[in-house]
Amino acid sequence: PEESEVSDTGELSIGGVPVGELARQYGTPAYIMDETGLRRQIRRFVQGMKSRRPNSEVLFASKSLPCVAMYAIAQAEGLSVDVAGGGELMMALTAGVNPGNIYLHGNAKSDAEIQMALAAGIRAIIVDNFNDLDRLEAMATKKQHVLLRMIPGITPATHASQVTGGNDSKFGLPPADITRAIERIARHPLLYFEGIHVHIGSQVLETEPFAQAVKSVAEFGSFDTYDVGGGLGVKYTYDEIAPSVEDYLDTLTEAAARLLPAEARLIIEPGRSLVARAGITLYSVNTVKTTGKTFVAVNGGMADNIDIALTGQRYEAVMASKIGAEPTVVADVVGRQCESGDLMCADVPLADPQVGDLVAMPATGAYAYTLANNYNGACKPPVIFCANGSSTLAVARETYEDLLRTQQPALQRRW
Ligand code: LLP
Repeated sequence: PEESEVSDTGELSIGGVPVGELARQYGTPAYIMDETGLRRQIRRFVQGMKSRRPNSEVLFASKSLPCVAMYAIAQAEGLSVDVAGGGELMMALTAGVNPGNIYLHGNAKSDAEIQMALAAGIRAIIVDNFNDLDRLEAMATKKQHVLLRMIPGITPATHASQVTGGNDSKFGLPPADITRAIERIARHPLLYFEGIHVHIGSQVLETEPFAQAVKSVAEFGSFDTYDVGGGLGVKYTYDEIAPSVEDYLDTLTEAAARLLPAEARLIIEPGRSLVARAGITLYSVNTVKTTGKTFVAVNGGMADNIDIALTGQRYEAVMASKIGAEPTVVADVVGRQCESGDLMCADVPLADPQVGDLVAMPATGAYAYTLANNYNGACKPPVIFCANGSSTLAVARETYEDLLRTQQPALQRRW
């Protein structure tokens, strides 16, 4: 994280709060956000986009960190918000996000979700398919803006599950159907067609595919709005190289200046690149074991960061109270879930790892909390925002009571 610092004794601080203090106050595992660095990164996007193309909008792809505190920060910093369903819409509205700044996505929206979005009066609904259109035509009672999601036929180099824009994608309509969909929208008295949306994928580490995304929407004609989605990749590991936000914005806005109508609005939807590097996950070592190799097992794992197993994303792991100390062992930092794929970081040089030591995994601000689950009865960790030496609890740690809350009494079941 940008605001991380290390004391003379090698203790990491986030937003001016030492990790030892965070661990004592909130326990571990915990998702810790550096709020100052986060806000700085948001401003890079918001101001960087406005200065390059005044008629533009940056939407926070809220699936990357869907908590009420984050929606509130997004709104305060001038981001609009993309929600991928009723649950995210509910959190955004609860946070006080102006409905006029909310966009609804989804390839399988329900009647109830469309109804919620219409009732809230959100800025736009992104139509993914003809069933969305059937529902909107039937349910709209006042004017509603819509965008159409198109399959752009672009497959950037990233993990297969992260590619969303290839021709066989489940998201959006093929180019051949777009004209028909636009005509249907145009015929409806309350639906207003604003423009085209594409999203090519996630953790994309080159800028060129984003210029292609602009080209793909430009070929469809002249509209009010072009939304080219999110997907900018970030640097997770020491050896990973990611484009800068500025290079990414240059590529996009230069392509837009060349290819789009001068007065059209350009939308982007970054998620990961806004939040990933502002977050760390803080763990404690539960066991240290040497068999054929040394395993340092922490008190979390794929229940709080499934990304490693899901997409093969690699991370670093550091001894958070001994930064800079001489490594004494090369170990696999592993989680506590019952799968060998629950490997947080392989072959890490570590300084004398002991039970109770704190381990930090940097750059876990995106999709880790999102994808947290209860595997092996794990309670989802809390989310904590830190700035200027103080910390604020944004999401409380789940408890065993939370795990039991939806469970029905065992004896209720009759065979
Ligand atoms: N817009 C749409 C329509 C999306 O589907 C996504 C991400 C984004 C924007 C934001 O993309 P970003 O800027 O964050 O790359 N399971 C994966 C992440 C999946 C991302 C899904 N869609 C992971 O854990 O890395």
